[in-house]
Amino acid sequence: MSDKSTNIESLLKEKRIFEPPEEGRAAAWVKSLDEYRAHYRRSMEDPEGFWGDRARELVTWDRPWDKVLEADFHEPSIRWFSGARLNVAANCLDRHLAVGRRNKAALVWQGEPEDDVRVYTYQRLHTEVCRFANVLRKMGVGKGDRVSIYLPMIPELPIAMLACARIGAVHSVVFAGFSAHSLENRIRDCEAKVLVTADAVLRAGRTIPLKPNADEALRNCPSVSRCIVVRRAGNEVAMEPGRDSWWHDEMAADDITDRCEPESMDAEDILFILYTSGSTGKPKGVIHTTGGYLTYAAHTTQWVFDLKDDDIFWCTADIGWITGHTYIVYGPLALGGTSLMFEGVPTWPAPDRFWQVVEKFKVDIFYTAPTVIRALMREGVEWTRKRDLSSLRLLGSVGEPINPEAWMWYHQHVGGGRLPIVDTWWQTETGGILISALPYATPLKPGSATLPLPGVDADVFREEGTPAPPNEGGHLVVKRPWPGMLRGVFGDPERFRTTYFERFPGVYDAGDGARKDEDGYFWIMGRLDDVINVSGHRLGTAEIESALVAHPAVAEAAVVGMPHPVKGQTIYAYVILKAGVEGTDELRAELRTHVRKEIGPIASPEVIQFSSGLPKTRSGKIMRRILRKIAAGDYGDFGDTSTLADPVVIEDLMAGKKALL
Ligand code: WTA
Repeated sequence: MSDKSTNIESLLKEKRIFEPPEEGRAAAWVKSLDEYRAHYRRSMEDPEGFWGDRARELVTWDRPWDKVLEADFHEPSIRWFSGARLNVAANCLDRHLAVGRRNKAALVWQGEPEDDVRVYTYQRLHTEVCRFANVLRKMGVGKGDRVSIYLPMIPELPIAMLACARIGAVHSVVFAGFSAHSLENRIRDCEAKVLVTADAVLRAGRTIPLKPNADEALRNCPSVSRCIVVRRAGNEVAMEPGRDSWWHDEMAADDITDRCEPESMDAEDILFILYTSGSTGKPKGVIHTTGGYLTYAAHTTQWVFDLKDDDIFWCTADIGWITGHTYIVYGPLALGGTSLMFEGVPTWPAPDRFWQVVEKFKVDIFYTAPTVIRALMREGVEWTRKRDLSSLRLLGSVGEPINPEAWMWYHQHVGGGRLPIVDTWWQTETGGILISALPYATPLKPGSATLPLPGVDADVFREEGTPAPPNEGGHLVVKRPWPGMLRGVFGDPERFRTTYFERFPGVYDAGDGARKDEDGYFWIMGRLDDVINVSGHRLGTAEIESALVAHPAVAEAAVVGMPHPVKGQTIYAYVILKAGVEGTDELRAELRTHVRKEIGPIASPEVIQFSSGLPKTRSGKIMRRILRKIAAGDYGDFGDTSTLADPVVIEDLMAGKKALL
């Protein structure tokens, strides 16, 4: 973790405390620290009672459960709400129609072009979802079948997800910034029957074709028999007869009606699969199920964001990541809320775009990532000053530790010095937020995710698996199940066990470093494994390394994270070329293009250092700690290097790094 030392030092010095605001407190879902503590105590003493009550309050069940929880972290096996039945789409749509929300905005969509706005009331969203569900059924998609969705941030994306949920199909959303190759791997792993994609992505004023990636991927995906294409940009696309068809044609077909009976699902049936990077091998298909995930999404949206009927909630994440799944789609819609979805980027056409959207729609709750805050901070305060941000009531942060400087800027310039900031720690695997302040209850310390939510038994463990004393860094763990947790890794139960439950038997190992201070506040320190967090996006070093060695010029590669002022971390690659190949700038450019093609633009290395060797132990293990230090330009203390096979390598690497500057 040495590469994050600057951030950690400033976090260690942080002593400021911000009390929750009085305004809004009387109407809040959780009104005080005492109330939080009472909920927390009950959730630990009587978890089944606590979760049973929450599940009844927040979700409409077709059939009640026989048992709230049956779990064993040793096996591991986790079952919530056994025997219960429900449909997620019916919970997110149908039940709101009957209680006076029929004409309420469910989804407000702002396209990248200013004039592209679509507002879906609950009624209209229901109609669209039913129609698309019927399209899928007509194509032979049924309960348990997988549907891959590779779409930009357009309304058809949540519509397709909810349509899958309605008929019991399992969706697997693939971020539209991923390459054809990444898409192919994800489709092949889950053996999807249908792919939903679009002609292109609109981004920062450009049209980036998407369908060619889908075509390339589908060449090697025999499971996919149909591909449905949304027309977004209107660019020319090739359509494969018999396989491809247009979304608008399918939706307009005579036999497609507005009515579609929802499939009553078992609480533990799979709702979706979402791929995420691990420290080794290919991305893992994280499995989330129906009853527990929905309960947890609704529970955390209500308490952490204090969501009320009148609010407009804007989560700026892409739905291709878990944050968008839970806090654009399932959480807000389960509660009958209004969710804002934005297609564009923060800095185009100008660095006030986010604030302009806040002003335009009078956003109440705003949830974004530290990397966005840092990028906008650099543009200067004139951009926030230009816009009226007075509608905002609550701010949130997710994806990586927020450094106190960025926290203060967010608080002052976006929050007017008065709004609470909830720094929410969680993961793809956790389904929803686990550690966060409650906005009207928890005193804030800038840079700390504060306290575990009710029902979450989080702790910091020493290497040997015992609780670490206050302020000692260690492994962030969760000691008992929560409803939103992953139920497995698709097709790989062994990987599920070894990744999360092996290091500390009987507890969930999050893979993050953390410390707990004397008040029990959690300070997250970042990944302890070989996962890099670039602008809040998780990337496995192993994935990038295998992309690099797939290039004919490369013999070996080692990738580490390097501290970056805006992105948090950026990718630094050490590359050993095959004999006779010369390390030129052209080759660097070619390798970057190659990685973009293999994985996607977010994985492209910022720095490529050609070197003649890597620091390895005598048993051949790469000492990444040393590579991280050299990448960070920190040549002070390499720690114990006695096991190095060839200590001269370090000198060479340092000289190579200096030559790059
Ligand atoms: C990191 C995103 C510090 C962490 C929801 C975690 C954070 C990984 C925070 C999961 C936070 C997320 N403070 N670190 N508030 N939120 N992280 O799966 O390292 O894309 O393990 O889920 O992001 O990333 P993922």
